[in-house]
Amino acid sequence: MQTVNIKNIISQIRAKTSFKPDIGIVLGSGLSGLSQEITVTDRISYSELEGFPRSTVEGHKGEYIFGYIGKTAVVLMNGRVHYYEGYTMQQVVAPVRIMASLGANTIILTNAAGGLNESFHPGTLMCIKDQIATFVPSPLVGPNDSDLGPRFPEMSKVYDPQLISLLHRTAEQENIPLVDGVYMQITGPAYETPAESRMYASWGADAVGMSTACEAVALRHMGVKLLGLSCVTDMAINNENTTTTHEQVQKVAREASRKLITLVKGTVQQLGSI
Ligand code: HPA
Repeated sequence: MQTVNIKNIISQIRAKTSFKPDIGIVLGSGLSGLSQEITVTDRISYSELEGFPRSTVEGHKGEYIFGYIGKTAVVLMNGRVHYYEGYTMQQVVAPVRIMASLGANTIILTNAAGGLNESFHPGTLMCIKDQIATFVPSPLVGPNDSDLGPRFPEMSKVYDPQLISLLHRTAEQENIPLVDGVYMQITGPAYETPAESRMYASWGADAVGMSTACEAVALRHMGVKLLGLSCVTDMAINNENTTTTHEQVQKVAREASRKLITLVKGTVQQLGSI
């Protein structure tokens, strides 16, 4: 099984910066605009880190950005790797495990997703209140690293209820419509067929994507508090007469990113003042 030597990568990062983040933020497809909104202290490109998995997908850059939102120390992951790129799940979750090991005990996961709930539309922002990770391999398969967490981690509240309330409070204050929903991860890279979309919806999923849930499993294993936010870029349900393209996904995500950035920034600021 191909794994990543996390301790080695952390020492490579520590040779470049001593920055200690409190919050980590993963930027999904088309959502990298947040990186322009923080006071940057350090940037480390994934390509500078030996043994670090690199994204091959357009729209996914590859760098850690360290800096501040207000007074809160944050690390952004500008670009993530996906299972469909051919990496093992252990490789896919290594970058978020590294953020947690650097000190981030709260992590905000963002993504672009296809809508399965008929009340959604392209541009809907969804707070992930729960997830279905059943249809992708677990990153926890294999010998358990008890330094990271327990063999059988608890998953009753993957996304932190207090963080969810803060996010909703920010949405109300900023007058940004926000819905709650269940996120489901598939391996991709093919988008779903109409029959698959109906099946996922009937199982209780509101949005479907190709990332995030596996990261959430690995991070809950480590006891990290999580918040998840999906930008619905296309409607996967009732998609008999529509075609979803990566370009469309990126375009809608970019258009909605202003609102998403406001929500993430506002929530981090509220967290910083607790
Ligand atoms: N399906 C899966 N992943 C996605 C989608 C989708 O419709 N849109 C954006 N990411």
